[in-house]
Amino acid sequence: MHDDLERVLFSEAEILAGIDRVAAEITAAYCGNEFTVVSVLKGSCVFCADLIRRIPIPLQLSFVAASSYGQGTEAGELTLNYLPSNNEIEGRSLLLIDDILDTGNTLYRLKGELLARGAVSVETCVFLDKPARRAVEFEADFRVLQVPDLFVVGYGLDFRGMYRNLPMVGVLKPAIYAATASPTPPITLDRGVRDSVEPSDPRP
Ligand code: IMP
Ligand code: MG
Repeated sequence: MHDDLERVLFSEAEILAGIDRVAAEITAAYCGNEFTVVSVLKGSCVFCADLIRRIPIPLQLSFVAASSYGQGTEAGELTLNYLPSNNEIEGRSLLLIDDILDTGNTLYRLKGELLARGAVSVETCVFLDKPARRAVEFEADFRVLQVPDLFVVGYGLDFRGMYRNLPMVGVLKPAIYAATASPTPPITLDRGVRDSVEPSDPRP
């Protein structure tokens, strides 16, 4: 799998040093306040697991599932597949965690959804920030590392569902991005979630 990387952008040691810094920022910001970390599946699960273990104050953990990339490197339509139950949102201070802030559509939309469902506050924390690709006005409250306008994999980030388990972040060899994928069927939402979520805008 490592052989598929053309180059490494961030080593595991660089990543963990950045997470130590952001964990300290979050600890200082939330010290004395009850809060819930909301991890955006699937991409942020690796980052979230390392991050929360470096935050030595009480917190709860919850998940949302959103998908914006199908099988390639271009954004598709955003789908919210799962949201926490109302009692995990209402009256709570939430810290929404994602793997990468790219166009901004995912976090912009999720933040709005959670506030509309009664969260007291929603702050955001991203592992990677790719400001060159922003399509909506949105900045994260906390971020670990900034990346140039490249499609990256590893440390939770995938290409066609693979490479999430790489401990570093890197760019794949062009031949791998060029390989054709078999088409996947569209995601089917269960009725409760589908009815409760606004239809999303088509992505560029
Ligand atoms: P946004 O809604 O455009 O900000 O996209 C956020 C989502 O797009 C992330 O949570 C990732 O799943 C995916 N994404 C954006 N850029 C990359 C990348 O370089 N590698 C892998 N996934 C990416
Ligand atoms: Mg993602």
